[in-house]
Amino acid sequence: MDQLNSLLTRAYCPYSGFAVAAVVKSRSGRLYGGVNVENAAYPLSRCAEQSATLQMVSAGEREIVEVWVLSRGEKPATPCGGCRQVLSEFARPETPVHCLSASGSELHLTLGELLPHAFTKQYLDKPDEALGSTDA
Ligand code: THU
Repeated sequence: MDQLNSLLTRAYCPYSGFAVAAVVKSRSGRLYGGVNVENAAYPLSRCAEQSATLQMVSAGEREIVEVWVLSRGEKPATPCGGCRQVLSEFARPETPVHCLSASGSELHLTLGELLPHAFTKQYLDKPDEALGSTDA
């Protein structure tokens, strides 16, 4: 995806040197991109997947149907635990997540594979049904 490659050059990662770009596709078919944006106060840094998700929600959309993540290097990076949780707020377990490396390797997973037994708003809305839906 061309959009991802040009996005990667916009990553702000002076501390880690690890650039990440993400694109989420919403239910309307629009694509929203984001990059990691680091901060001198390290914990305030933002991951690329979160940046992309915030763009989508800020544009008024609330459903992610597909995700792409691009990082440099040989092996594709998978979304960190926090990003899996943020994506799961707006996506479904079957939502495809494509992890791509700049050197061309790819890892194709679903969000459910990345985050099984996710904690979702269903636990807050209907705790008994949510608990019944797990096999833990
Ligand atoms: N990073 C992301 O943008 N997404 C992830 O899922 C993994 C990590 C960023 C955060 C930080 O700026 C850099 O990669 C190194 O951890």
